[in-house]
Amino acid sequence: MKFFLDTADIDAIAELNALGMVDGVTTNPSIIKKSGRDILEVTKEICDLVEGPVSAEVTATDADEMIAEGRKLVQIADNIAVKVPLTWDGLKACKVLTDEGNMVNVTLCFSTNQALLAAKAGATFISPFIGRLDDINLDGMDLIQDIRQVYDNYGFETQILAASVRTVNHASQCALVGADVMTAPPSVVKSMVNHVLTDKGLAAFLADIKDAGIKIL
Ligand code: E4P
Repeated sequence: MKFFLDTADIDAIAELNALGMVDGVTTNPSIIKKSGRDILEVTKEICDLVEGPVSAEVTATDADEMIAEGRKLVQIADNIAVKVPLTWDGLKACKVLTDEGNMVNVTLCFSTNQALLAAKAGATFISPFIGRLDDINLDGMDLIQDIRQVYDNYGFETQILAASVRTVNHASQCALVGADVMTAPPSVVKSMVNHVLTDKGLAAFLADIKDAGIKIL
């Protein structure tokens, strides 16, 4: 499973990128607002840092405007994926931008039917939002599993980009059900290393190293 970072925090991206943990980056208008930066500037900086796809979201809701914005966004760098919302206008923009050879990420997906439409429109990525479904007492992971089955049934190449990942359990479940990619905040990726038995075991080994005076260098 590929790891995308769901952030525009340059330092956090650089830190995890140096460890080989960053296969791409996703942003959205809320993330850009949080960064306090100009969308074009910060997106360019991210694209310079990361080799994989960097999703930048359109601001328009009308297909023609989305297409115009998408064409501007892809000028930033070769690794831009234009992010469009899952509406008929978004799907129209997806088809046009994909046909022009661009990567497109169709976002705000909350149903299997929506994912099916995005695949038929040629989306590179579909972004089902796990956490926001969990927020309303539905099971976001069921959606990932259902989309996996539908895409496999018909051989769609659209990659399932599990989004709105909020917990380490979301991360492991995404990998178990076969999401192609998960996008998560850096804090979630960093928490994936934690295990109480690792901490306990290491403490015991360190005590024995000290007692026995074990040295390698
Ligand atoms: C990424 O592509 C999505 O916009 C993001 O994961 C949404 O996450 P949230 O539901 O935590 O805002």
